[in-house]
Amino acid sequence: SRAYAFHGAHQAGITTPAQDRLHFAAFDTDASLDRDGLIGLLTDWTNAAARLTQGLEVEEGGAVGGSDYAPPADTGEAQGLPASGLTITFGFGSGLFGAGDGASDRFGLAARRPPLLEPLPRFQGDALVPELTGGDLCIQACADDPQVAVHAIRNLSRIAFGRATLRWSQLGFGRTSSTSTAQATPRNLFGFKDGTANVKSEEQAAVDEHVWVAASDEPAWLAGGSYLVARRIRMIIENWDRVQLGEQEQLVGRSKGAGAPLSGGTEFTEPDFSAEGPTGAPLIAPTAHVALAHPSANGGTRMLRRGYNFVDGNDALGRLDAGLFFLSYQRSPQQFIDVQRSLAADGLNEYLRHVGSAIFAVPGGIAEGEFVGQALF
Ligand code: HEM
Repeated sequence: SRAYAFHGAHQAGITTPAQDRLHFAAFDTDASLDRDGLIGLLTDWTNAAARLTQGLEVEEGGAVGGSDYAPPADTGEAQGLPASGLTITFGFGSGLFGAGDGASDRFGLAARRPPLLEPLPRFQGDALVPELTGGDLCIQACADDPQVAVHAIRNLSRIAFGRATLRWSQLGFGRTSSTSTAQATPRNLFGFKDGTANVKSEEQAAVDEHVWVAASDEPAWLAGGSYLVARRIRMIIENWDRVQLGEQEQLVGRSKGAGAPLSGGTEFTEPDFSAEGPTGAPLIAPTAHVALAHPSANGGTRMLRRGYNFVDGNDALGRLDAGLFFLSYQRSPQQFIDVQRSLAADGLNEYLRHVGSAIFAVPGGIAEGEFVGQALF
């Protein structure tokens, strides 16, 4: 079983090869939390995460080594399980930086707010549910074993007791992207390969250009970090499953089997948007998802996608509450905004509903002895 280093130049869980499972959590800070309290929480979270990612219990003594007369420090359900590739990635929401009026700047961070950390604009077709939206802090836990990812979020939530409260969380069971060329491309719940044209960790220049906040970007404390966009996208699966195969492929712009662009070739062939069929119609429709999401339609913009499939039971009409929990990392939120705006014309939208949304500034890597985001304070 793999264990990824917790300390380094960047937080783990971004360019790390996407693991199979996710537990993502967004927190609100409690009203009584002040600056020292926030630093204390981040320190405790950092210390616990450094251990958990190495397959250790939250603290020495853990689940059964402590006093019989105190609740155990670790909840215990990961005893005997290896690290399972666990990564824990922390993000800061706009609420940490005050409301901009000075009065509500509980943490004294208003002057340190990243200018780009604005709430996302409203997009066409948004059907956002407030209970699935926003958050002052987030934690992304990814692992190859769901029990390990859930154990991490459960214990970190417990550590936050009295300081921050879970606002919403999401389990994901199948990765919908590859972040390394060594990984086979997985499939989303529409049955299509997802992640083919993703930014891969081996593309060093693209990662530097599109994913990491540079030292020359504002603000300096975020250097080596990134912006994380989370979107809970419900798929109207029952309607999709009545769509003819050829139409499904036209909507995506790729074949369902091999994932090859409809302009020809194999999975990793670049799509040719000018290629025409015998009737003179473009082989890839201009409203196909890959045509609208492609860098050529968005001023060269790319992003690192790291989302997961989800099925959270069913609704009252007997339809699966299923979809794609979309996660993307980018150097600027504008990259997501540009592509999402371009996707307003996407034929897939008939089968999608964006119900949750959040944006976070993800601080750079954590050195040993530091807590996450220390440069912010
Ligand atoms: C590519 C599906 C939402 C951005 C793709 C591909 C599929 C797909 C099948 C082609 C394979 C690949 O290159 O990964 C979906 C589904 C979505 C969804 C089912 C919703 C449930 C989004 C959103 C964004 C996005 C919200 C960003 C705003 C992209 C990008 C590409 C892509 C940038 C690569 C385009 C290229 O360079 O060829 N998506 N996607 N997708 N998608 Fe999505």
